[in-house]
Amino acid sequence: MNDPFLEKHIHDIPDFPKPGIVFKDISPLLASTEARIKMTESLVQKFKKDNINVVVGIESRGFLFGMLMANALNAKFVMVRKPGKLPGELIDQEYELEYGTDTIEIQQNAIQSNDNVLIHDDVLATGGTAAAAHSLISKLGAEIAGYSFMIELDFLKGREKLPASKTHSVLHF
Ligand code: PRP
Ligand code: MG
Repeated sequence: MNDPFLEKHIHDIPDFPKPGIVFKDISPLLASTEARIKMTESLVQKFKKDNINVVVGIESRGFLFGMLMANALNAKFVMVRKPGKLPGELIDQEYELEYGTDTIEIQQNAIQSNDNVLIHDDVLATGGTAAAAHSLISKLGAEIAGYSFMIELDFLKGREKLPASKTHSVLHF
């Protein structure tokens, strides 16, 4: 059951960005201090006893609450970014889109093999982005303690691409 207070801060926008797509607008959630606090707590609650020392947020909407989660868990925050945005030695991971492919990148020295990582993004849709983040972090040899999302679009079955017992979403649609 979705928390009604958090759910009312996510607005459905029909036919955006394309006809037939119902976009989940998180702007009302970002605008409310009370909703931000409650969402952050809901995102980290399941992982509080897991000794997470790094939260990884995926560009761009994964940055917003990823940082708040890192504060709540007293952990580092690390960015996974779209290509060409990060300086230094990088590791990258390509993944499939509906049409074509995309790539995400991380700084090689951002994560050590003894780190315990929580991966965060705003939405779990097809799971392509989160699975690519999983591959990226795994290349650096770190442990992935879990995957925490604000919104999961159940009908797209993205969960099937991730370890079920470690995957948590605050709101399901
Ligand atoms: C959206 C969303 C997730 C991803 C989920 O990001 O924020 O990152 O898609 O989709 P998937 O599970 O099918 O991979 P988008 O690429 O729209 O970019 P943004 O976060 O920069 O807005
Ligand atoms: Mg995104």
